[in-house]
Amino acid sequence: MSKARFPFVSVIEKGKRNLPPGSPRYLLFQLSDIQDRPIEFLGHHWRKYGDMAKMHDEIQTVLDGSNPTFEKLPQLQYTRRVFEESLRLFPPGLGLAPRVALEDDEIHGYFIPKGSILNVVSYFTSRHPDFWENPELFDPDRFLPENTQQRHKFAYIPFGAGSHTCIGKSFALMESTTILAGIVQRFHIELVPEQPIEIDPRFTLRPKYGIKVILRKKINYP
Ligand code: HEM
Repeated sequence: MSKARFPFVSVIEKGKRNLPPGSPRYLLFQLSDIQDRPIEFLGHHWRKYGDMAKMHDEIQTVLDGSNPTFEKLPQLQYTRRVFEESLRLFPPGLGLAPRVALEDDEIHGYFIPKGSILNVVSYFTSRHPDFWENPELFDPDRFLPENTQQRHKFAYIPFGAGSHTCIGKSFALMESTTILAGIVQRFHIELVPEQPIEIDPRFTLRPKYGIKVILRKKINYP
């Protein structure tokens, strides 16, 4: 049994140390850094919403002891939805890159003078009660195809929207689902009780004091 941050975080930190800053792989590691935030925040949900038994079951059934691979990803739909829902509540980018108004404009009756800097904050759109039922509730099934079809296309924008939308979106979803499956496959995860959990909304949204979890190796795993 060990108290630890999620292993992914240490892998990233180790990876960065061994790469020359500015190299393409260093940049990839840097970008991957924001992917561990929703995974870290997931620890929070374990305390609030039980043991995520459905995700454990899916991973156990689909992987059956083998490593998570690209070929298995289409079958890990619930695991992917867990990650998507975590991105909804804790979008690591907090919002989009700021935009500058090139001319005077009006949005919903608000006058926007030329030169204004505008920020769209996905943290708020993804919790807005006009678009989400029980927005504070962690419910991965919001991302079932039948539940996403009717939703406003800008309600869920952790990867941005429009011409500057994130180019790493598919890669990030694929990689994060694989990593999450790999962790949950090997460990029972329990939140260390009585710890302060607060968000730290800087350039990326972080847990202010980290999130400490207890990892218990599952039997049958070396
Ligand atoms: C969970 C992981 C990630 C999240 C939440 C995320 C989120 C975002 C957001 C919010 C934007 C700004 C979009 C806008 O202002 O409209 C963005 C832009 C961008 N992202 Fe990501 N990103 C992630 C992973 C990645 C990865 C892995 C890569 C590269 C492999 C990447 C490459 C980029 C690039 C190049 C842009 C700038 C696009 C442009 O300005 O045209 N991102 N991302």
